[in-house]
Amino acid sequence: MAGGVLVSFEGVEGCGKSTQVALLAQELKRRGVEVVTTREPGGTPLGEEIRALLLNPAFAPTPWAELFLLEAARAQLVATLIRPALERGAWVLADRFSDSSLAYQAGGRGLPWRQVQAANRAATGGLVPDRTLVLTLPVSEALARARRRPTTKATNRRFEDETEAFHQRVARAFHRLAAREPQRVQLVDGRGTPSQVHARVLQALAGLLP
Ligand code: TYD
Repeated sequence: MAGGVLVSFEGVEGCGKSTQVALLAQELKRRGVEVVTTREPGGTPLGEEIRALLLNPAFAPTPWAELFLLEAARAQLVATLIRPALERGAWVLADRFSDSSLAYQAGGRGLPWRQVQAANRAATGGLVPDRTLVLTLPVSEALARARRRPTTKATNRRFEDETEAFHQRVARAFHRLAAREPQRVQLVDGRGTPSQVHARVLQALAGLLP
């Protein structure tokens, strides 16, 4: 897409994505680039409503219902925010994108990989990130972090409440993605301080940074 760059951040809950998105946005702005940050599920008024439905344990969607809610939010996000930003030449930093559906709905929930890929293609119109950074942290450590976050509440903890085995399957799927597409999908060690991880993020973006 003309001029713009799309970078997605991925990983299990509590891996530190959101902190790294904020640090990278700051650094890119310092370098004089237009930066748009967004998150999934969410990122648009429609998407944020869908997010609340998805995270609330009261609704318990089936795996397919969960996938289609995610893809609906993603379609809206790509069409109304991401594509226009890329067309202006901005950097778009996405806190999760299509690879999360492969990791969670295919890896975690067991939906067929190829059908999740097809749903991703339909929702994104084939848009694929220029680079995807998967922040890695031992699952037990990341989950413990996520579960004690002050923002984790009874109405938004449906994924935090999943078993450790579920999150292990998610983590394995992210590793599989990195093995399949080593150019695009890079594993970034998520241990250490935010600034140590930030330095690794910059390294993983070598060749793309302004
Ligand atoms: P997120 O806000 O990134 O939560 P966290 O900061 O805890 O990682 O994402 C919310 C949840 O949505 C997260 O538990 C993973 C789930 N999710 C999917 O299952 N599939 C998807 O495609 C996306 C984008 C998110």
